[in-house]
Amino acid sequence: MVTGTADFVVIANRLPVDRVTSPDGGTMWRTSPGGLVTALEPVMRRNGGAWIGWHGAADEKLKPFVHNGLHLVPVHLSEDEVAEYYEGFSNSTLWPLYHDVVAPPEFHREWWDAYVRVNRRFAERAAKIAKPDAVVWVQDYQLQLVPTMLRELRPDLRIGFFLHIPFPPAELFQQLPWRRQILEGLLGADLVGFQMPGAAQNFVRLVRQRVGHKTHRDMIYLPDGRTVLAQAYPISIDAAGFEELARTPEVIARAAEIRESLGNPRTMLLGIDRLDYTKGLRQRLRAFGELISDGSLHVDDAVFVQVATPSRERVDQYKILRDDINRLVGRINGDVARIGQQPVTYLHASYPRAEMAALYRAADVMVVTPLRDGMNLVAKEYVACRYDDRGALVLSEFAGAASELKSAYQVNPHDINGMKSMMLAAINASPRENARRMKAMRKQVMENDIELWAANFLRELTLVRNPHAKNPRP
Ligand code: F6P
Repeated sequence: MVTGTADFVVIANRLPVDRVTSPDGGTMWRTSPGGLVTALEPVMRRNGGAWIGWHGAADEKLKPFVHNGLHLVPVHLSEDEVAEYYEGFSNSTLWPLYHDVVAPPEFHREWWDAYVRVNRRFAERAAKIAKPDAVVWVQDYQLQLVPTMLRELRPDLRIGFFLHIPFPPAELFQQLPWRRQILEGLLGADLVGFQMPGAAQNFVRLVRQRVGHKTHRDMIYLPDGRTVLAQAYPISIDAAGFEELARTPEVIARAAEIRESLGNPRTMLLGIDRLDYTKGLRQRLRAFGELISDGSLHVDDAVFVQVATPSRERVDQYKILRDDINRLVGRINGDVARIGQQPVTYLHASYPRAEMAALYRAADVMVVTPLRDGMNLVAKEYVACRYDDRGALVLSEFAGAASELKSAYQVNPHDINGMKSMMLAAINASPRENARRMKAMRKQVMENDIELWAANFLRELTLVRNPHAKNPRP
């Protein structure tokens, strides 16, 4: 029984498990591959922790359950709420707005109402489960109202919030009809974490301008005497776990097999992304297609493997993107392919971690070109897998990861010519030059893993001293 027993509660839109079909045809839960659960699992075990989240299906009420020793508390969403809270307000309003409006955000009052209703449901669930003075960590843009809703129900709790995606400048955020409510929702937290210092500054500035609270640097002073700290905690990956996987004989053999089945090209370029319009897939494929068609690369020498994981498939902008990419890949391959030599291998599918590690190991050049990205963990995963110090990373300046991975070949994804020359530079650089860059990036990624990220955030959260909070330590 988890009710009222948890000293540490994670609240996220999704539970850290996926429902899969078992060999006997039934269904079972499998821990999701994400790094967040890897990092938080030990903290949850030490503290009798609980994780509150949606289990991914509409109109299905599930009881709390234990999976691999983790207490999981499913939150129910109706079919309408999936459409209005998840696909609507979260992914057709906030997602494009927070990613520099690279697609037009839609503003609908009924979507907002569903967002409020679902946020309240998550907050109420947490209020029941958390022990007195527990630590609660709320994750991401789908749940920005939870901190204040939860504080109203349980002022004893210590509440942290982390935003995994960018937080936009005031000029864009101001478009949101519910801008003040979102800011006030976040201010229920004691500590609000962002990927980048600039995002934390955007938030503090907006709070000063729109809510009228006093601020000093990263600190916000509320009229009731509470303070809220807004700081950057760049997220990372389970770096050692990826390296270990990449070193296994199975992954090494699979990497060789992948290259073999591509015809052992001189250069294999790789992209791995969710099929999302923020990822710059159109621009990247155009750049590569032009390199082949203008003769800078020869179709016998270079292959681009693009994995695009299906995502948010009922949302209009994602449907449009899927058709666009199908057309673009068809056009490039139709224009320049030869029998047995296809320049782009496009895989609209998701793969297990071991297959990803094999692809990372196989690729000479990893191409990560989002138009805007909170962090981009694929870039870090590639680096973690390259313990051989080979390979090169082409990375967008507009990914959070760019401020840490300074030795990547950095590009502006809107500048197709610039991207073409950087891809060529990465392809043609000497092994020595690429090893120098990779070593520098590996030092950064291996030393700053997700465990350290979680530890830093939680340490700061326990240090925040507020009138109601005592001193629990996760
Ligand atoms: O940070 C963005 C994010 O919401 C992640 O938390 C998640 O892994 C990813 O996007 C996929 O999103 P969804 O839960 O909508 O499939």
